[in-house]
Amino acid sequence: MVFSFKGRSLLTLKDYTADEISYLLKLAKTEKDNSRTGIVQQRFLGKNLAMLFEKRSTRTRCAFETAFGEEGGNPVFLSSDDIQLGAKESIEDTARVFGRMFDAIEFRGFKQETVEKLAKYSGVPVYNGLTDLYHPTQILADFLTIWEEFGTLKGIKLVYVGDGRNNVANSLLIGSGKMGLNFSIVAPKELWPDENLVNYARECCKVSNGSITVTDDVKEGVKGAQAIYTDVWVSMGEESKKDKRIKLLSPYQVNQELMDATGNKDTIFLHCLPAVKDMEVTYDVIEGARSRVWDEAENRKHTIKAIMLATI
Ligand code: CP
Ligand code: NVA
Repeated sequence: MVFSFKGRSLLTLKDYTADEISYLLKLAKTEKDNSRTGIVQQRFLGKNLAMLFEKRSTRTRCAFETAFGEEGGNPVFLSSDDIQLGAKESIEDTARVFGRMFDAIEFRGFKQETVEKLAKYSGVPVYNGLTDLYHPTQILADFLTIWEEFGTLKGIKLVYVGDGRNNVANSLLIGSGKMGLNFSIVAPKELWPDENLVNYARECCKVSNGSITVTDDVKEGVKGAQAIYTDVWVSMGEESKKDKRIKLLSPYQVNQELMDATGNKDTIFLHCLPAVKDMEVTYDVIEGARSRVWDEAENRKHTIKAIMLATI
């Protein structure tokens, strides 16, 4: 199959087909294996990457910065506190200036609309490093981690427990639908994902043979899970909702009892990180033998390098 990635953005996983996602995961795996050899390559030599952050980041920032820099490229970190965007200049104008100076743009922030405008007006590839709505590069790393563990994505029972309508849950829905996982969201009804997005993922399942389940029943929902995934109960920008979320989500904490309720002693634990230990996940589970969170964090770098290699 011939793929054509050059010049494309990654704003949401909806932008890519299952075959394209598979290609990116294979490329990431090759890059990961190659990174162990110590051989230095300079595939981004002479290139510039704008890295624009309205919200904090450890993994996403470090993954983009190290992946681009070690290939000879020049990553430029721009916090929205430092540049004119938002204060004196529109997104459209900022995008057109960036397009004249940079070969690609990474954006992390609040509105999905911002990352879409950056892509529309800059004319260079734009990568969504997290918005309120989606976190597509995270899911590439999650899927590489699952693939490494089980040798496949198809038919894997992945259960996300917690805030079922945040950026990570939304992107897992899209990705799972495309790649044919049996994906469940276990969350209180108030935090169920948008119906349109669930329907979109279910449409994808007609082609991929995956399945999408949304339930508020923890015991039933986690049965047979091969991977349990959770994320923070309070995403960036939602800090005022903390007390309400703790009340709502306490029964959905990932603890050993929940892991045992899968009925599968080989279930792995995933978390995009950063984690609030003893809140959404207990210390013993995230630090336990079935936790794969550090592989998952490392895989952010290899998958992000893959998308940049493919599109720049
Ligand atoms: N998982 C993730 O996006 O981590 P950061 O917020 O540290 O980038
Ligand atoms: N849902 C979390 C993900 C952090 C990587 C947030 O948006 O804060």
